[in-house]
Amino acid sequence: MVPGVFLKILLWFWTSLVLVALALELAITATTTPVEVRVSRFSESVLTSHAHEAVAILDRGGPRKLARFLDELERTTRIHAVLLDPDGYDVSGRTVPPKPVAMVAARALASGQTEMEADGHTAVKARAVAVSGERRYVLVAAVPIGLMRLLHDGLYAQGLRLLAVLLTAAAACYGLARYVVRPLATLRAATRALAKGDLSVRVGSTMGRRTDEFMELGRDFDRMAERLDALVTAERRLLRDISHELRSPLARLNVALGLARQQGSEDQAVLDRIEREAERLNALIAQLLMLAWLESGTAAPARKPVDLADIVREVAEDAAFEAKSRGREVDIAETCDAVVLGDPELLHSAVENVVRNAVRHTREGTVVAVGMRHDAHAVPARIRIWVRDHGGGVPDAALPYIFQPFYRVGDARDRGTGGVGLGLTIVHRTIQLHGGTVSAVNAPGGGLLVELGLPG
Ligand SMILES: Nc1ncnc2c1ncn2[C@@H]1O[C@H](COP(=O)(O)OP(=O)(O)OP(=O)(O)O)[C@@H](O)[C@H]1O
Ligand SMILES: [Mg+2]
Repeated sequence: MVPGVFLKILLWFWTSLVLVALALELAITATTTPVEVRVSRFSESVLTSHAHEAVAILDRGGPRKLARFLDELERTTRIHAVLLDPDGYDVSGRTVPPKPVAMVAARALASGQTEMEADGHTAVKARAVAVSGERRYVLVAAVPIGLMRLLHDGLYAQGLRLLAVLLTAAAACYGLARYVVRPLATLRAATRALAKGDLSVRVGSTMGRRTDEFMELGRDFDRMAERLDALVTAERRLLRDISHELRSPLARLNVALGLARQQGSEDQAVLDRIEREAERLNALIAQLLMLAWLESGTAAPARKPVDLADIVREVAEDAAFEAKSRGREVDIAETCDAVVLGDPELLHSAVENVVRNAVRHTREGTVVAVGMRHDAHAVPARIRIWVRDHGGGVPDAALPYIFQPFYRVGDARDRGTGGVGLGLTIVHRTIQLHGGTVSAVNAPGGGLLVELGLPG
């Protein structure tokens, strides 16, 4: 069985608490040993070896060599030392450490042990050295103990203990947090990518060599993504294949229609009707193929500089012409200079789709307003193209669906107002492929307000 996250977290917490307790214990022990004890432990063997070395140097090189050796010792270890003879006279010619030197030296000569006298800042230690069985010299050294006292004193010691606990706990918690958060971050990034439409995303390889619930979750995610990928791909292929398959019988139908007309068939009205239906079918298939291409995941719109103001003006002029014959108007309410990178035909048809919808739905005698402007607050820069009509709008509950394929609001379907419900889907997908967004809201005072936002 794989050791689960539960067990790992349990063990982790337990180990952390034990570590923190240990750190505290050590810190307390380290900071509560009396300073004298630590100072004597600190330099016992060091002092003995220095004492023997000093006597050996004196023997070989005389007082001058010894003085040089002791100077060097002070420079490297901050221990100020002198070598005294049994009468208390300095052999090396260095300044004798003040105060209790004579006393400590005498004690060391008498006992043969290391003797010490300490005040708040310095410990004076003395070590006698025997030459051929006779205690002839004594090395007296002043060792600074400021730092050790610091460790022992109340407030500093408390701070130090606290720091030890905090650091140990922080290290343990950091490890735990990383252990839990890392796989979650990977999964979150993958989920977001999937939600954005990247169906090829998988987490398997990024989960490392884990053997726990996170790994299982990662594997489940991959399975889900794989299934989604397969389903969506199949759906797209179906849409594309159906559209292609419909094309050939439609082409044959048109040929048959042409033949029937040539042979002077009597019922021209029926033939006209058949022709109209064939045209609608043709338009529908063209739209379906377009959508299948946009949805294929391989569609890469051109990236040419496109003047949006030109597109808006052209679309508005064309639509105004058509609207006029039906007692409606199209008006450009505001415009600006805006060049974006994209596919001019796709962008033209997107704007046209929205404006045509508006002309179709606006009430007789009203004006469809079209405008474009730079979004002042957007970072990075955005351009908004908006279209507002004065029709019945779309029920709020239906607003999220109007960009879905074949979705038409109830009465639009009943009244047979033309379209099949693919226009806005194509608009949405086109703008998405250009890195933009589309939104629709019911404008205050009635009518639909559709906005296309493009980066630029
Ligand atoms: N300006 C509008 N006012 C009211 N309803 C609208 C407006 N624009 C779109 N709709 C609603 O949204 C539905 C979907 O619009 P869409 O453009 O996708 O399809 P369509 O216009 O019906 O058909 P197509 O565009 O494929 O010819 C429409 O059927 C209509 O119900
Ligand atoms: Mg439409």
